[in-house]
Amino acid sequence: MCLKVLSTDCNWQFEDYLTRTHLQSQSRMKVQYMSQIPEDLALQLRNISKFYDRHTALDDVSVDVRKGEVVAVIGPSGSGKSTLLRCINQLEEPDAGELNILGDTLDFTRRITSQQLTALRRRVGMVFQSFNLFPHMTVLRNVTFPQERILKRSKSEAAQRAMELLEKVGVADKAHQHPQKCSGGQQQRVAIARALALDPNIMLFDEPTSALDPEVGMEVLSVMRRLADTGMTMMVVTHEIHFAAEVADRLIIMADGQIIEEGNPRELIAAPQTERARKFLAAVRGQL
Ligand SMILES: Nc1ncnc2c1ncn2[C@@H]1O[C@H](COP(=O)(O)OP(=O)(O)OP(=O)(O)O)[C@@H](O)[C@H]1O
Ligand SMILES: [Mg+2]
Repeated sequence: MCLKVLSTDCNWQFEDYLTRTHLQSQSRMKVQYMSQIPEDLALQLRNISKFYDRHTALDDVSVDVRKGEVVAVIGPSGSGKSTLLRCINQLEEPDAGELNILGDTLDFTRRITSQQLTALRRRVGMVFQSFNLFPHMTVLRNVTFPQERILKRSKSEAAQRAMELLEKVGVADKAHQHPQKCSGGQQQRVAIARALALDPNIMLFDEPTSALDPEVGMEVLSVMRRLADTGMTMMVVTHEIHFAAEVADRLIIMADGQIIEEGNPRELIAAPQTERARKFLAAVRGQL
């Protein structure tokens, strides 16, 4: 069975996220239970590369993320930001390198069992630009279904957790509606609740507000800000420079599949070191 994700259509992504757990038993990866990374690291990527035919989407990328750290990732279109997140949660299989999540290392030359992948998946939640809610399910069912499927929670347990989270993100009153009856901002908050319902240790956000009107986007950013305040480890691909400056502990700037700059968000935004980063930031500022 082909494991490569070829479509660029976002709608399949969350379903794919659920089902790949079963498919991955046929993959070449292996989780080794090692604790070679420092205790305070949630995530360590070492020399990750990803190729699409002859195109290099990620070129030898290494990143450490500390527990509780919020890392913002910015960069021009096509620079590899989404591919980076997708390699972390294994929606894409890197072609080279090593990934360590909370002490478990994935070596991309060996096999992984579905159990090992499930364990890893439970640690990483992802929120996509286009929400990717299941349109035929109510908001509540969107949040209970993955819990029952992945965590094997009972229906009542899953419903209780779902209502707690929907309350937290401010959309409990939409629980029995279908997603198409919710605004974009409400749908994105449901998507955040759905990811959080799996009790992840790390949350990945891929441009969570770029499909939203600025005002609605602010509501989603405020949910994310509150999540950061709880100490959640977060990696956020965003064009929201203000969010990066105010909420992120660290900013990464990518270009051409590489990390070209990395550091304190305010300092980096104020004084980028490379011409490429300067050009990109000037373009982003121009849109503000
Ligand atoms: N499934 C795929 N098949 C072929 N090429 C791909 C695939 N996914 C991504 N790419 C290519 O890899 C490169 C990095 O893509 P990626 O989606 O990671 O960029 P990005 O930084 O997230 O861009 P954007 O800001 O537009 O979302 C791009 O050149 C893209 O065309
Ligand atoms: Mg992208």
